Amino acid sequence: MSETNLLKLNINDKNFSKIRDIRKNVFTDELGILESELFDEYDEICDHFIIFDGKHVVGAVRFVIVKPDIKLERMAILKEFRTKNHGKDCISQSREYYQSKNYSKMFLDSIYFVRNFYKKCGFIEEGEIFQRVGIDHIRMSLTL
Ligand SMILES: CC(C)(COP(=O)(O)OP(=O)(O)OC[C@H]1O[C@@H](n2cnc3c(N)ncnc32)[C@H](O)[C@@H]1OP(=O)(O)O)[C@@H](O)C(=O)NCCC(=O)NCCS
Repeated sequence: MSETNLLKLNINDKNFSKIRDIRKNVFTDELGILESELFDEYDEICDHFIIFDGKHVVGAVRFVIVKPDIKLERMAILKEFRTKNHGKDCISQSREYYQSKNYSKMFLDSIYFVRNFYKKCGFIEEGEIFQRVGIDHIRMSLTL
């Protein structure tokens, strides 16, 4: 099984261009989400992580502080690196990180057809299905 490492950075880091490439590749080219939806004002203030396997950048994710909770957003693993546990390892490492920072809950709005991935990471569904960027979503949460 390949390793999963997280590198924390902010929007001014030179490596932020890798996050731009990953979001465009996964969310626009693959899922058909408009490029104008990929970035917003939270990118200026949230925590960003690049996910790498020791050799390649394989994905990215961001976390927005919604005190006392933390919201996971823009989770993306590049297609060629999927089903190698990078997504699950990223969530378990970030869970430990935010636990150590005294957050009580991690939550997210999952694309509905991806929800079983988050269930395997321990999240539970909350509430009703809703639409965002033309795609069904559901809120999910994980106690830290
Ligand atoms: C969803 C995503 C992040 C999963 O990443 P990944 O690294 O391939 O997932 P992992 O290898 O860590 O998988 C962990 C478990 O979830 C399962 N799983 C992975 N993707 C899944 C999916 N789309 N649906 C259901 N289960 C999934 C795996 O089979 C594995 O199960 P196991 O523990 O029983 O073996 C990745 O497929 C992705 O980036 N998809 C496109 C973007 C996206 O939809 N992002 C989420 C936005 S809410």
